[in-house]
Amino acid sequence: MLAEKYYRPLVHFTPPYGWLNDPNGLVYKDGEYHLFYQFHPFDSVWGPMHWGHAVSTDLLSWTHLPIALAPDKLGVCFSGTAVVDRSNHSGFFAGTEGLLAYYTITGDNAPFNQSQGLAYSHDNGRHWTKYAGNPVVANPGLEDFRDPKVFWHELSQAWIMLVTTGQQIAIYRSSDAISWQFSSFFGENYGAHDERAWECPDLFEINIRDSQETRWVLIVGVQRGAYAGGSGTQYFIGHFDGEKFIPENPPETVLWLDYGRDFYATQTWSDIPTADGRRIAISWMSCWPYANQIPTQSWRSAMTMPQELSLKKTTDGLRLCHAFIRELNERCRNPVLVVDKALDRSGMAFVFDWSAANRLQFSLELADNSSLFLQPFSDLTFTFTVLQGRLTLRCQRLGQIGVAEYDEHFPHDFSIALGDNRPLNIDLLLDRSSAELLLDDGQYSITNLVFSKEGPVQKCLAVLVSGEVAIRNFHRHELHNVMA
Ligand code: FRU
Repeated sequence: MLAEKYYRPLVHFTPPYGWLNDPNGLVYKDGEYHLFYQFHPFDSVWGPMHWGHAVSTDLLSWTHLPIALAPDKLGVCFSGTAVVDRSNHSGFFAGTEGLLAYYTITGDNAPFNQSQGLAYSHDNGRHWTKYAGNPVVANPGLEDFRDPKVFWHELSQAWIMLVTTGQQIAIYRSSDAISWQFSSFFGENYGAHDERAWECPDLFEINIRDSQETRWVLIVGVQRGAYAGGSGTQYFIGHFDGEKFIPENPPETVLWLDYGRDFYATQTWSDIPTADGRRIAISWMSCWPYANQIPTQSWRSAMTMPQELSLKKTTDGLRLCHAFIRELNERCRNPVLVVDKALDRSGMAFVFDWSAANRLQFSLELADNSSLFLQPFSDLTFTFTVLQGRLTLRCQRLGQIGVAEYDEHFPHDFSIALGDNRPLNIDLLLDRSSAELLLDDGQYSITNLVFSKEGPVQKCLAVLVSGEVAIRNFHRHELHNVMA
C-alpha cells in the first residue's frame, strides 16, 4: 500500500487526525463559515462521536478549532445543525445574538437513546454550554430518531425541526427554539428507502433559476441501496407551509443528488446573508459499507468540495444542479488550454502534474455511435457513449488493495442514462484520492473516492476515442494545497 500521506486531499477538508463522518452545524456568522463534523479524535474508525470544528472565510482554507461538543454522562453527540438566534428567542442571548446547536444525544437509556439535545454559544462557537434541560425533544419510543435540522420559518414565524424517524421525517415547531410540538410526518412510501433508517435531513427554500418562483427542497440520506449502491443522497421538491412538506412529484419519483458512491449526509449552510443569497452544500465523501476501511490510518475521510445548489427547469421537470463554489474559480486563475478540436486519433494521453489537484473543464460533442473513454486514474474510468441518439455514461472503479470490505465494495461499474444526445459541459475535480464529476451544467454529479496504487504520481490522463468526437475548450487548472 502507498504511504497514506499520498492520499490526503489537497483541496478537500479532512480532519487533523482521527475519524470524520457527517458535516454538522453548518452556519455562517460574522464573516466565518463554520464546519462542525462527526469526529472520533482517538481512533481512525467510527466510535464515540464528538463534534469537531473548523472555520473558514472562503470555504476552501480551513482553520481547525478545538472540539466543540464531546460525549458526557447523557451520551455521545450524533449529527445535527447550528443556527443563529438573532432575536434571542431562546433567552440565552440577552441584548445580543448567539449560536444554537442541536444534536442527537445517543445514550444507553430513555430518554437519551437518540433524543435531541441543545447547546448554545456566546462566542461564535469557541465554547458551548449544553442546555441543562436536555433533551429538548425526547425519544417517543423509536429505535431511530436522530439528526435534527433546525431553521427559522419566516412565513409562519416559528422554528422548525426535522428529525429522521425510521422511514420518514418528523417535523416539529417551536416559538422559543427550546420546547417543540410535533406537527407532521413526511416520507413513508415516497422516494428511495431501504431496510435502514433515513438519515440527515435538510429543508430549504430556493429560487428557480431565471424565474421569480421558489420551491422547497428536502434532502435526505439513504444508508444502503443508493444509485451506485451503498449510501446516497436523494431529494424531493415541493412546498412547505410551516406545518408540512407537500411534494410535487409522484411518490415513486426518486431524485438523486449524486450518482456516484461517495456523497452522503449532505447539509447546507444556514444564515448566509441575503446579499450573498447562495445555498451551499457539503457532503461526507465516503460510503458506510467501507468507510471504516479506506486505506489511511492517522486520519480517515474527507468532505466533498462545497457546491452551490440551484433549481433548474429541465425537460424532465425541476432538477437540483450543482456547481463548485465560485471561491474555487478564484483559485483557478491560470488555466492551461490542453485541447480544442475534433479528435481524429484513437488515443492520446495528456501529461499533468498530479502532485497538485487538477480541475479539468471542457465541452464534449459526440456524434451517433461514438464514444469517449477517459481514465484520470488507473483505477477509475468514465466512458461517454451515444447510441441511437441516446447518451450514457459508464463509470468503472477497479481498485483492489487487499482489504476485504474495501475490495468487496470498491470495484463497481454502473451507467447513467443521460437522455438525448447534446454537447455536454464537464467539470472534473481530481484530488489525490477523489474524482468529482459535474455534467451538463451540474445537473448530474458523480462523486467517487479512488485510491490508485500509483498514488498522485500517475502522469497522464488517458483519452480514447471511437467515432466522431470533439473536445472543446479543454482547460486544466492546477490547484495547490488550499488548507495551508
Ligand atoms: C449518518 C449517521 C447519522 C448519525 C451519525 C453518527 O452518516 O449515521 O444518522 O447521526 O452518522 O455518526
